[in-house]
Amino acid sequence: MNFLHLRVEEHINHLATFTSTPGHGVTRLVYSEEDRQAKSYIKQEMRKLGLDVEEDEIGNIMGIWHGKNPELPQVWTGSHVDAPLHGGKYDGVVGVIGGLEAIRILKERGVQPKCDVVLAVFSSEEPTRFGVGCLGSRALTGMIREEDLDRWCDDHGQSLRQVLESNGKQPEKVLRQQINPAKVKQFIELHIEQGDVLENKGIPIGIVDRIAAPSEIQLTIWGEQRHAGSTPMDLRKDPMPAAAEVILLVERLNTSGISSSSVGTVGKLHVTPGASNVIPGMVELTVDIRDVDKAKKDELIMELEKSVNDICERRDLSWKWKINGNDSPAVMDVETLHVIKQCAKELNYPYLLMPSGAYHDAMILSRKVPSNMIFVPSQDGISHAPEEFTSTFYIVKGIELLALTLQKITA
Ligand code: GLV
Ligand code: MN
Ligand code: MN
Repeated sequence: MNFLHLRVEEHINHLATFTSTPGHGVTRLVYSEEDRQAKSYIKQEMRKLGLDVEEDEIGNIMGIWHGKNPELPQVWTGSHVDAPLHGGKYDGVVGVIGGLEAIRILKERGVQPKCDVVLAVFSSEEPTRFGVGCLGSRALTGMIREEDLDRWCDDHGQSLRQVLESNGKQPEKVLRQQINPAKVKQFIELHIEQGDVLENKGIPIGIVDRIAAPSEIQLTIWGEQRHAGSTPMDLRKDPMPAAAEVILLVERLNTSGISSSSVGTVGKLHVTPGASNVIPGMVELTVDIRDVDKAKKDELIMELEKSVNDICERRDLSWKWKINGNDSPAVMDVETLHVIKQCAKELNYPYLLMPSGAYHDAMILSRKVPSNMIFVPSQDGISHAPEEFTSTFYIVKGIELLALTLQKITA
């Protein structure tokens, strides 16, 4: 155990205390008190390391290590600190504290980068609060439109615009704070794999070549709220069995062979009024569909929407289909991927080229800036759950690889 191991564990364990569900995994909704505490811890660590700290209008934090020539395009690294409901300690956090420690390693080795190295903490990578992920990186790449500020809402009906305003931010500026691609030459994100490919193969490092993209849909089905005892079966307009049909359909469509790489999940169901003796008046559900093949994903979603229409027509129900996000899969930068491979060889770390099934800020940033990702193994492939675990041994390998790569591309 050396100082780097100890510091990594200290950061991760400290950040894990900022949760609204102590003892039941990490829950850190964007713009919550816990999210603010986690961000302020990172800002403090950035300052201790001598970085200049900035925060933008959507809550992205940038810690800048000034290079010899500030005119040269910057190199960015980082990830996120918000967490889903009852998630783990490592998702996002490893890339943030990994970036911090990679910069510390380079400083301690006397490295002076030619260009600025920026450690970024992107706001709201998780879709938990607003139904769409990667808000911070979307803002930086011009992927948030004026109307999105009002149509993306949380469970309390608060729009992104309202939440930003109540956090002292200026939502209009979010639309104009884009990254200048001429001023950022590269983004590299270190992250846990969140699956079990690396562990099963006994390989410590994954180098990502492409990222599957999500579509995030919100479906609302309205029926007629009535008494569960006194309403005969043939007089009901019950949205619940319709929702059940949709849920099974999501599973069937993603195993039917339309696409060999798609996955589909209904992770959230909200029943109104939600009482055992009341036929619901409304059921809302989320549909998350991912694929590395955008055309197949679009075909699948069209098929699903058509079937929802048939189901609701047959059951005499009304419905609303709201697509919060529909992203395209991303391809990682070939040139830097080659550099990462060379660095892994130099460090004697076996690696695997692999796609990412989870999405990341690198998927969004890659629209404007050459982007790459380094993965470290997840124990039993578990993530978005309290049991999420990656050993410090692997995290440190990821950090060493990130540091060496940053050193090479900023030399
Ligand atoms: C990111 O958290 C994802 O859902 O892939
Ligand atoms: Mn996540
Ligand atoms: Mn993540």
